[in-house]
Amino acid sequence: MSLHSNVKRVTTHVLIAMKHKGEKIAMLTAYDYSFARLLDQAGIDVILVGDSASNVMAGFDTTLPITLDNMIYHAASVVRATSRALVVVDLPFGTYQGDSKEALVSAIRIMKETGAGAIKVEGGVEIKESVERILSAGIPVMGHLGLTPQAIHKFGTYVVRATEKPEADKLRSDALILAQAGCFAIVLEKIPAVLAEEVTQSISIPTIGIGAGSGVSGQVLVLHDMLGITQEFSPRFLRRYHNLQMEIKGAITNYIQDVRSKEFPNESEQY
Ligand code: KIV
Repeated sequence: MSLHSNVKRVTTHVLIAMKHKGEKIAMLTAYDYSFARLLDQAGIDVILVGDSASNVMAGFDTTLPITLDNMIYHAASVVRATSRALVVVDLPFGTYQGDSKEALVSAIRIMKETGAGAIKVEGGVEIKESVERILSAGIPVMGHLGLTPQAIHKFGTYVVRATEKPEADKLRSDALILAQAGCFAIVLEKIPAVLAEEVTQSISIPTIGIGAGSGVSGQVLVLHDMLGITQEFSPRFLRRYHNLQMEIKGAITNYIQDVRSKEFPNESEQY
């Protein structure tokens, strides 16, 4: 019997057990009640309330502007919709890098005010102290290495990371640091598949890939990208499972026509 079909509630322990049983973990982002409900009912293992909400929900160019209050609003909406999936919430830029006390305060706010099951942070050795302090309060932490969008101004571009030895070596070492600190999983974003597979085999916790090939413990995509709601973004790793923007625009165009032609509402749609 597979673990994922047998659990009532996905926990961090379930995810670690899934890795050891060779069961792949399915994770998607969500930022609101209605989509989170569909994801949970469909059987997703993990819902990430990503700071990609900054791009997808708020229309900013980067993930940097979103605030802790914004994230709490999105996360609380997602948690209300969820009965099975583990909900993981991104700590936004500027709420954990400065000092570990502030990191803990931010993480506690997320856990207290949203009811989520874990938080996610970007980076390795630089944020080790913050990760340890959050973990010491009993808050599960997911790491995030490779293309970490909160550092986009340092990278300058969204190209594949860790293709050269020094950056690949740092990523290997950061993954070990996060795993040894006690993180329950690590997102690996846009790195060579061979490196992602090697890192996955070198640590006992699961890795969740986005543009990191198939040798990882699970996959994550941004919901609005995989549904084809967003249009401009089409990296090689993105598989679009739907062209929802066309369907939505079609439905809205039909509605506009029906209103203008007085075809809506009809006899049966009024009191
Ligand atoms: O914010 C986000 O959506 C993420 C995923 C891309 C992993 O961090």
